Amino acid sequence: MCGIVGVLGKDNVVPSLLGGLKRLEYRGYDSAGIAVQSEGELDRRRAEGKLKNLEAVVRQNPLEALAGIGHTRWATHGVPNETNAHPHMTTKLALVHNGIIENYQELAAELVDRNYTFESETDTEVAAWLITSFLDDGLSPEKAVEAALGKFHGAFSLAVIFKGHDNLMIGARRGAPLAVGWGDGEMFLGSDAMALAPLTQRISYLEEDDWAVLTREGAVFHDQSGAVVSRDIKLTQLTGAMIGKGNHRHFMMKEIVEQPAVIGDTLNSFFNPKTRSISLPDLPFDWNELTKVTIVACGTSYYAGMVAKYWFEKLAHLPVEVDIASEFRYRNMPLPKGGLALFISQSGETADTLAALRYAREQGQFIASIVNVEESSMGRESDMVFHTQAGPEIGVASTKAFTCQLVTLACIAIHAGKKRQTLDHQEEAVLCQALTEVPSRTADILEHDEKIQKLAADLFECRDILYIGRGPGYPIALEGALKLKELSYIHAEGYAAGELKHGPIALLDDAVPVIVVAPSDEFFEKTASNMQEVMARNAKVIFLSDSEGVEKLGGKAMGTITLPKVNPFVAPILYAIPVQILAYHVAVLKGTDVDQPRNLAKSVTVE
Ligand code: AGP
Repeated sequence: MCGIVGVLGKDNVVPSLLGGLKRLEYRGYDSAGIAVQSEGELDRRRAEGKLKNLEAVVRQNPLEALAGIGHTRWATHGVPNETNAHPHMTTKLALVHNGIIENYQELAAELVDRNYTFESETDTEVAAWLITSFLDDGLSPEKAVEAALGKFHGAFSLAVIFKGHDNLMIGARRGAPLAVGWGDGEMFLGSDAMALAPLTQRISYLEEDDWAVLTREGAVFHDQSGAVVSRDIKLTQLTGAMIGKGNHRHFMMKEIVEQPAVIGDTLNSFFNPKTRSISLPDLPFDWNELTKVTIVACGTSYYAGMVAKYWFEKLAHLPVEVDIASEFRYRNMPLPKGGLALFISQSGETADTLAALRYAREQGQFIASIVNVEESSMGRESDMVFHTQAGPEIGVASTKAFTCQLVTLACIAIHAGKKRQTLDHQEEAVLCQALTEVPSRTADILEHDEKIQKLAADLFECRDILYIGRGPGYPIALEGALKLKELSYIHAEGYAAGELKHGPIALLDDAVPVIVVAPSDEFFEKTASNMQEVMARNAKVIFLSDSEGVEKLGGKAMGTITLPKVNPFVAPILYAIPVQILAYHVAVLKGTDVDQPRNLAKSVTVE
């Protein structure tokens, strides 16, 4: 996914553009660029790599203007070099783009026939020249953009400024979000509210297929037919402090330590302190009629869905099928009419998950989603949205959003059990009590940071590391492995502990440490046996358990992390914390870019 920002300002817009790109860099950081329109001329600066490279270029060769656009890129078409960096400029406009114009080669061929030429390999440059061709045909900027939008296939958001127009900026969205920011005598465009937070808190979101014509006096919204439509102005709650690092070295650690608070906020949005029970809005289907829940997500969000499978099946006796979105969307899986399909996504924009949601809707499913971003495509296209209260998550590695997803799923599973009468009031009370203790238990675990940092020193030079767990601990093993590999680039795999003897145990020797996720639950003894098998192959073990488990088995491990003894129901939420912290410290020791690991972006809005 890429980040877009645009400013029609009263003062030099370059600092606002660069500041907006800084807040958008989590979306992609292969290259960055800005373009401005001043005194009838267009100019731009671009740089390969991180935003700091662009900032250096602008320092060396400053720009000054009252209208401009900016972009930070996660490369889809064309290698991440300066030539392919946005903004793309033609003789009459500059354009930035997030998404994919799928028919760009066909459009390019038509333009070549009209003697237009390209300097880059990008679909974006084709879009810029197509709009320019309509300007060359005598259309106004508004009509030229509208005509080009009618020829684009794919999902995108874009912003355009025009040579000779110092009070005009046009934005458009189809499948990738775009926000209009309302200032006082200035107007803004941004991929999300975060990009605009310090500039304005008055935000309007373009709806699907909208395009908007901005001047410093305001914005006129058009729908796909070209008709003028009105879009609400919302006040975002985002502040500069919420999207800054505070006194933390990395966003990731800030977001790890925010977990006690945001887990509490998320729980409080579903838990009724008076009745001490979960209260969710009644969904327009009968939980007793449901024969299956289908859960679809990607990456860390998928692991949250895997944990939920255990909860739904145990508490509500509801069969659950969990699948990764990139597989689900092409399986043509027969779904029961009137079934529940649940989509989990921090960003609410992940392309595969969004496509899976649309498939499930075509199959007549009730669509529910769990998302963290205030306004997202998935939220907009769901029948029911559960918003996690994690707040902005900027570190590419998901942490607080994951634990807030788990809390939300736990509440939904309890609600389902109540509705299906497979969970009585007493049982609900016990589970709710365990949930209400999670914020303080999470804070307790954060106290282990220094000890976990020492364990990281034993791991950061390893080449291969295995994580194992059973039951709901298995998805936490997968999540721990994902955290480690995406942050430190060390090969790590998560495995069901019972599966080791079916092959993976061949990997083990004294150079392959094994992280064992083992709360004192019904699976503990079995996991303990697996741990013995592992140590019999000279593998070193880092043992995650509570005091009871550590007392039983910790003595033989290379290292132990003692977590609070809790109701097994909430153990997966808590055991996510140490694997987050461990991955963080290993990455810091390895010197990788913790908040912006190589090749990644915060949300993958392309297939
Ligand atoms: C998790 O740390 C990764 N950044 C990645 O796996 C992420 O969870 C995945 O891309 C899904 O993103 P989403 O939750 O925004 O849909």
